[in-house]
Amino acid sequence: MDNKPITVPDIAERKNSRKKITALTAYDYSFSKLLDATEIDIILVGDSVGMVSLGYENTLAVTVENMIDHTRAVKRGARRALVVGDMPFMSYQVSVEQAVTNAGRLVQEGGASAVKLEGGTRMADRVRAIVQAGIPVMGHVGLTPQSVHQFGGYKMQGKNYLDSRQIKQDACDLQNAGSFAVVMESIPSELAEEITAELKIPTIGIGAGPKCDGQILVLHDMLGLNQDAVPKFAKQYAQLADNMKQAVAEYIHEVRSETFPGQAHTHQSRRGVLKQVND
Ligand code: KIV
Repeated sequence: MDNKPITVPDIAERKNSRKKITALTAYDYSFSKLLDATEIDIILVGDSVGMVSLGYENTLAVTVENMIDHTRAVKRGARRALVVGDMPFMSYQVSVEQAVTNAGRLVQEGGASAVKLEGGTRMADRVRAIVQAGIPVMGHVGLTPQSVHQFGGYKMQGKNYLDSRQIKQDACDLQNAGSFAVVMESIPSELAEEITAELKIPTIGIGAGPKCDGQILVLHDMLGLNQDAVPKFAKQYAQLADNMKQAVAEYIHEVRSETFPGQAHTHQSRRGVLKQVND
């Protein structure tokens, strides 16, 4: 495996080379180190951390401080993969200035190499300003979870003609504003294919079919670690929650039956030492 760190230009170049981009989320050092030991291209420190690690109902309560802490932890574990930090709700919506400041914090304090933010046309001025500050931006269109209340739930987007044209326009405006890639979430695969053919920057799909330039999933969904509802598009490649429960049940049994800790996991004092001390 090539251990050379993956850069933003490397990701942008995949549009030409047609080698698919692979991305997963991670939120801490251990999982980041595990992913970095594979050939994964991008580790996204998603604001899905709010639901997966912090137990919130949605991503809206996640703060810039949360994202900085988790991004920093992921960065410590990733020497090769590109680390992208997600901009949380209300860290870029209010003003262009606030968007640049908070993107800067994710890079400067969190160690991210790029940031991701949700929204297309409406956020193009934020994207342009962040890029002008020297920070690469990944866009996110379609189902943007920070707008869950506006959508009335986590529903597929772009179902009718007008919505599908707006999503395409969103992606084009992000490209024109300087985004290096765009995530497309929960849209029909035909629309994703059309946008992918139109754009010069790579598209990264999640629930957007196979014709995108790359794919991303939430790590806990694909490993079978998420005990809450998992979206239809999230294939589970393992059932680690079951493995964990089985391991913990075995531990409980061994503790209760005094088979753990056995000789191999026990410190012993030299013969007679305790006796001498006590005498
Ligand atoms: O927060 C996240 O994990 C994301 C991915 C689903 C793309 O935005």
